[in-house]
Amino acid sequence: MIRDYRRGDAEATLRLFERAIAETARAEYTQEQVAAWLGVGQDVGEWHADRSCVRTFVADEDGTAVGFTDVDDGGYVDRLFVSPDHGRRGIGAALLDHVIEVARREELPVLSTHASLVARPVFERAGFEVVERETVHRGAVALDRFLMRRQVDL
Ligand SMILES: CC(C)(COP(=O)(O)OP(=O)(O)OC[C@H]1O[C@@H](n2cnc3c(N)ncnc32)[C@H](O)[C@@H]1OP(=O)(O)O)[C@@H](O)C(=O)NCCC(=O)NCCS
Repeated sequence: MIRDYRRGDAEATLRLFERAIAETARAEYTQEQVAAWLGVGQDVGEWHADRSCVRTFVADEDGTAVGFTDVDDGGYVDRLFVSPDHGRRGIGAALLDHVIEVARREELPVLSTHASLVARPVFERAGFEVVERETVHRGAVALDRFLMRRQVDL
């Protein structure tokens, strides 16, 4: 079930985010890159404030948050994370389907994202196309990602 994020999801989604980077994204990024991506660790209150600034959606399996994504008013998808214990079961795809449906309903003509190396195929299967490959720096560490876009049929 995909539903709207609520206050009670803050702790679970923050931990899921940390594990998805440390464990799943580790398949494509070095330990040093993973540490740079994770940064110093986030406070749950700040995390909740950030989640509440945009439309955040949670994949809920029997009351447990197993993934989440978001979209802002300009159609930018900032986050897509699935618990490493629930990967490769279509949860990422279902979250993106939900965002596309919301974009149609809210008449957002274009969705965009910066996809990680791990997430790129998931966005591609949801109809996103790579605009360009980018390298961002977190301190001295370089991380590759893809700017991707998808038109929405309104
Ligand atoms: C990207 C992510 C959200 C996909 O979630 P998911 O529920 O596994 O996605 P789906 O089941 O819809 O699609 C699975 C695809 O994701 C990718 N993937 C998932 N787990 C992976 C892993 N451990 N190693 C490499 N690729 C992986 C593969 O392309 C996989 O397709 P395949 O099984 O045919 O190889 C999840 O893997 C994740 O949280 N990754 C780490 C964080 C991240 O990179 N987030 C994106 C930031 S933009």
